[in-house]
Amino acid sequence: MATVYSTSVFQPGIFSNKVVFCTGGAGTICRRQVEALVILGANAVIVGRKKAVTEKAAAEIQHLRKGSKVLGLSVDVRDYKALQEAMEITVEELGKIDYVICGAAGNFLADFRHLSSNAFKTVIEIDLLGSYNTVKAAQNQLIKNKGTVIFVSATLHYYGVPFQSHVGAAKAGIDALSNALAVELGPFGVRCNCIAPGPIEGTEGISRLLPKEMTENVRKAVPLQRFGTIDDIANATVFLFSPASSFITGTTIVVDGAAWHTGQQG
Ligand code: HXC
Repeated sequence: MATVYSTSVFQPGIFSNKVVFCTGGAGTICRRQVEALVILGANAVIVGRKKAVTEKAAAEIQHLRKGSKVLGLSVDVRDYKALQEAMEITVEELGKIDYVICGAAGNFLADFRHLSSNAFKTVIEIDLLGSYNTVKAAQNQLIKNKGTVIFVSATLHYYGVPFQSHVGAAKAGIDALSNALAVELGPFGVRCNCIAPGPIEGTEGISRLLPKEMTENVRKAVPLQRFGTIDDIANATVFLFSPASSFITGTTIVVDGAAWHTGQQG
């Protein structure tokens, strides 16, 4: 997979002295978001549920730029206290928090008739409550540093996608949370936006949720005739954290090659 990060567009060092806190940062999409920010000058903390995986990812990301500092911490975003402690460690070790990515998510295909109440609750708690917990725990740092939040959303709640009622409801809630926080925190100089990835190649979303035999048809149905890449999401992330988007808040950048407009996703 090509590594883009649009270095021809974005200047090296644009995120010097910036610190990003990312949940789900060891996962495919969020890891690349953090990699791009670190390459362009930021330091970072990534959190995930699996300690060894998260620490390994952090060490690998740190190698991408000499002098960078990247920590990996074991946190379940459903645990508000654990998130608060992770934020405290971030401020102790890296000095502050400027940017927050709410990327931790859980997903599986399940038809509504067999989806248990606990299964629905689990996804709502990881995706939506976890996003709330993250911004809530970071709020003082965000206000102090006039920070920016990116929520990783989706497009499947723009219409009805079968077997995804739990995730669709969670992501719709995340969009609503982002809009409300953009309004409430705007006067403090804090911006909040969503990125909604479409089908992105090489992700768990594709490998676990899209049956292999449907892959080619779904790819052909994308108006741009390809799946997205994790670099496409990273580039949108760099834009939304950069001063180039300083008047953009309370919106969603859909990065899907116009896939959802065709009504054929999923
Ligand atoms: C039906 C399921 C299920 C499945 C779990 N459950 N997997 N129900 N089908 N495949 C039910 C369980 O039976 C249980 O309900 C409840 O969910 C909680 O399950 P646990 O395993 O106890 O929860 P937990 O350990 O917290 O695991 C969370 C998880 C898991 C979401 C269920 O899949 C997970 O952690 N996945 C890893 C992260 C992940 O999914 N990443 C993919 C992100 S892709 P009962 O009733 O039995 O107690 C993505 C893309 C979104 O998010 C956009 C798509 C386009």
